[in-house]
Amino acid sequence: MNHFLDIHKTDPAALRGMISSAIQMKTRRAGQPRGAPDADLPLKDRMVALIFEKPSTRTRVSFDVGVRQMGGQTMVLSGTDMQLGHGETIADTARVLSRYVDLIMIRTFDEAVLAEMAEFASVPVINGLTDRTHPCQIMADVMTFEEHKGPIKGKKVVWSGDGNNVCASFLHAAGQFGFDLTFTGPPTLDPEQEFVDLARSKGVNITIERDPMKAVAGADLVVTDTWVSMHDAQSARERRHNQLRPYRVDTRLMGNAKPDALFMHCLPAHRDDEATSEVMDGPNSVIFDEAENRLHAQKAILRWCLGV
Ligand code: CP
Ligand code: NVA
Repeated sequence: MNHFLDIHKTDPAALRGMISSAIQMKTRRAGQPRGAPDADLPLKDRMVALIFEKPSTRTRVSFDVGVRQMGGQTMVLSGTDMQLGHGETIADTARVLSRYVDLIMIRTFDEAVLAEMAEFASVPVINGLTDRTHPCQIMADVMTFEEHKGPIKGKKVVWSGDGNNVCASFLHAAGQFGFDLTFTGPPTLDPEQEFVDLARSKGVNITIERDPMKAVAGADLVVTDTWVSMHDAQSARERRHNQLRPYRVDTRLMGNAKPDALFMHCLPAHRDDEATSEVMDGPNSVIFDEAENRLHAQKAILRWCLGV
């Protein structure tokens, strides 16, 4: 069963194949209206369930549009409207949904929910974000980097800010795609050591540098994300803002990276908190390409999961 649960759990050759397939599909439908069907309709007759236990704009819309472009059908389900939110087990939900649909995409809190869904479903399951990881996002980010700069292998990526779920998937991608990653942020918000060790075990350089100006020196890509994630307690907001302010990505910080370094943010952003509008809307920013590429990258992931 081809579940897409995390980047480090997916074979590097398969990941590479998905990036190529995404770029190919994007090129093939360039200039067409968004709703136009792809010529080959690889998901014809397929039904896909998209379950959201947290809010979403990009993941929801890009999966929905992508499935439809490939000739499939979708249903978007909110966790709270399902029996799942009222005591039915994940295992039973997985077994029931597997009788109706051909694939399940789920955005949830605890990654144990995702694991249980995958264990008991008899159809592929895709991770649409958990508290710990966000693999679909980083597939789109790798695609975006390579569209602009060529192979990411051996390049220097700098993550500035909170060592959160998106950062974790970047660390997984560093190991699988072979790029170096420097994390810069306060010690209390470091990425989990397990993710750092795993990436290092694959032979890439993972550096922790507390000084953001030093960290970005020579960077090919600077990335940040919201300072307070959906799973973080709102009560921690002020403390996090105080700790993370020195890691805001502004033009001064970008000025210390390579002159043509890209800037990425998975969005949604809190403008002028984690990154200034000047950077977000500046010449190095590719944030809307990233958002668009969610569509193409996920279409490739869906095809890999379904073997079509
Ligand atoms: N980047 C991302 O996953 O955005 P949404 O929360 O809007 O899906
Ligand atoms: N780190 C953010 C990513 C949102 C797409 C969150 O989990 O809220």
